[in-house]
Amino acid sequence: MDSPLNSEIESFFDSAPPLNDRAAISEKLKEFIALNSSESGTRRVACVTSGGTTVPLEQRCVRYIDNFSSGHRGAASTEHLIKMGYAVIFLYRRGTCEPYCSSLPDDAFLECFEVTKESAVQVCQPYSEAVKRAIRDHHAAVAGGLLLKLPFTTIFEYLQMLQMIAVSSRSLGPCSMFYLAAAVSDFYVPWKSMAEHKIQSGSGPLDIQLLQVPKMLSVLRKEWAPMAFCISFKLETDAEILLEKADMARKKYGMHAVVANELLSRKEQVVVVTNNGKIPVYRDKTSSDSDVEKPLTKLLVDRHSVYIKDSNT
Ligand code: PMT
Repeated sequence: MDSPLNSEIESFFDSAPPLNDRAAISEKLKEFIALNSSESGTRRVACVTSGGTTVPLEQRCVRYIDNFSSGHRGAASTEHLIKMGYAVIFLYRRGTCEPYCSSLPDDAFLECFEVTKESAVQVCQPYSEAVKRAIRDHHAAVAGGLLLKLPFTTIFEYLQMLQMIAVSSRSLGPCSMFYLAAAVSDFYVPWKSMAEHKIQSGSGPLDIQLLQVPKMLSVLRKEWAPMAFCISFKLETDAEILLEKADMARKKYGMHAVVANELLSRKEQVVVVTNNGKIPVYRDKTSSDSDVEKPLTKLLVDRHSVYIKDSNT
């Protein structure tokens, strides 16, 4: 049936510039999913989205509207999911946190290295263990076929890639999980009505109309990947409205769980909202290198196990 939402979604995709590397992405997805589905049993595969999408204001983009997200949540969750036996498709904003990099210095990458007298490059002593661990763990995950990293920048790239991943993972049935931690733009300028060249500041105040990005959560659930276990995130800055909005989103988009988080406390606590109630999850404060993503992913993996069992009976 042709609903108003479907026609909004259609016109969003029609107006989007085509992905440059669609064929290569499609090939990588096909290989990754085939590798993780075997006759001896399908491995669970999670698509973790991470980082914020941008909305370009010009086709030859100089200016854009950005969405806040460091990508820490998505990167840390990916590491925990892989440890718990999942293969992960990490759909992330270029330049934000990546799995296995959290113990490396953020701003001083070159300070990790030095050039020896023999002109070789070596890791400086204080970073040596952290760099070795990051390289080893990252290599093991990628070479072992457990991690596929797909970068995006704009809202157009993000939603086209999310759709490709969802449709390609259909064959995994209930073993597929969507963990939608990316901060997704709510408003955009359609590509066809966007200025081609840099908008000139001499023409006075800027007056642009932004259209609403259609929420793709219900189409993801109902059409793209109807058997998948779907978790979305709800971010608010006002704690008073957070849980109510998370529960509304769960019902409206048919999510299996919505993770409610408040901007300032998001690294310490979140609340998982399901049809059975609201479960608070806390970071273990007794350990300095703990994160809230560890108990959060554990809880969601347990829920996913129940979902798979119920789907198979
Ligand atoms: O990256 P960090 O700095 O560690 O922070 C993590 C986080 C705060 C970004 C993350 O935990 C989080 O809350 N991500 C979702 C933020 C968000 O976009 O919330 P929202 O209320 O705008 O959207 C709710 C859900 O709808 C999201 O799962 C989003 O994927 C989805 N959405 C949003 C807009 C849109 N047009 N379409 C969508 O499908």
